[in-house]
Amino acid sequence: MKKIISVVGARPNFMKVAPIHRAFAEYNDRYKHIIVHTGQHYDKKMSGDFFEALELPDPDYFLGVGSASHAVQTAKIMVEFEKILDEVQPDLVLVVGDVNSTIACAITSVKKGIKLAHVEAGLRSFDRKMPEEVNRIITDSISDYAFVTEESGRSNLIKENFPKDNIFFVGNTMIDSLFYALPKADRSDIHKELSIKQKEYFLVTLHRPSNVDDEQQLRGLLEVLSEFAADNDVVFPMHPRTRNNIVKFGLEKYLKIDRLKITEPAGYVDFLALMKNAKLVITDSGGIQEETTALQVPCVTLRTSTERPVTCEIGTNVLTDPEPEKAKAAVENTLKNLNKGRVPELWDGNAAERIAKIITNQLIG
Ligand code: UD1
Repeated sequence: MKKIISVVGARPNFMKVAPIHRAFAEYNDRYKHIIVHTGQHYDKKMSGDFFEALELPDPDYFLGVGSASHAVQTAKIMVEFEKILDEVQPDLVLVVGDVNSTIACAITSVKKGIKLAHVEAGLRSFDRKMPEEVNRIITDSISDYAFVTEESGRSNLIKENFPKDNIFFVGNTMIDSLFYALPKADRSDIHKELSIKQKEYFLVTLHRPSNVDDEQQLRGLLEVLSEFAADNDVVFPMHPRTRNNIVKFGLEKYLKIDRLKITEPAGYVDFLALMKNAKLVITDSGGIQEETTALQVPCVTLRTSTERPVTCEIGTNVLTDPEPEKAKAAVENTLKNLNKGRVPELWDGNAAERIAKIITNQLIG
């Protein structure tokens, strides 16, 4: 029996691994797919609920590392993950995305001489101030195999001398999860619960340090959102980091504006329902740029760069300078030029099956 470990740690990892786990069920006479959860995210709303919604089994191993500085968090994951590698002796480790759990487990695996595959490889924002960009560059530079979601992933890797034959353009496993869960999202009661009407509200997420760790920037963005809330419902499921900063900076008055509906982080299925039926999405997330493109819902991203250029080139995503007045103008402008875009190649719900097939046929057959 060959053994494959997939690592999850933070919220955006769960939906990328769930379809891979399902795809390996077909090969379970020859391959054991093992899930290790580092515990980078640990709140029920940021983690446990996602396992349930995505039909993931409980992880085989939970490392319980929790929140800390980047160095401490990364180091703790490495120390704990090494023990798992010693015990399991896997034939391949799969890491996904660009979070601290990704880089920590990538380094640990490679130093143990274990083959490493990176799912969602090759994405580059070319902004090294983003911790995720550093995580992406280092993970790719030591991976044996790269599964890419869009053409830019392949071309970036080739420019960085990644061996061509080990790059596989397979599509997007996060979009596999999205298509899989849409029927459930269509049964969600979230619109009723929030007293909002489909296609008549803005959906907002903000958690990136550049937008929420600086008091003036966070205040400015909340100001703009409250202006939109004068005429529209604005739904804002809030990341704990953002909520903590609102309290730290004394900005709680924004939590009490009538049509600015600030909620706990939404569950996966409810969030899909909210995205699918929004008039427009405002975000600084990486993954939401892709999900709105797949759903053909307009999205304004409050960042100056994106590692997912296909979402702007053919999808619905518009990047904007996050300076509050410019962000406001970008939203107004996008509303005037609504456009459904196109869904990128191979974002068809079958990426995980392609990955499982390549692994079992070509990599560790
Ligand atoms: C991490 C990822 C980011 C991803 C985001 C999605 C890195 C470097 N960043 O950022 O790429 O877009 O997840 O959410 O890995 N917290 C809780 N409960 C939790 C998790 C976090 O309260 O379950 C709070 C803690 O105060 C913590 C802070 O959020 O210090 C930040 O969490 P952390 O995992 O360090 O980074 P994220 O901002 O979530």
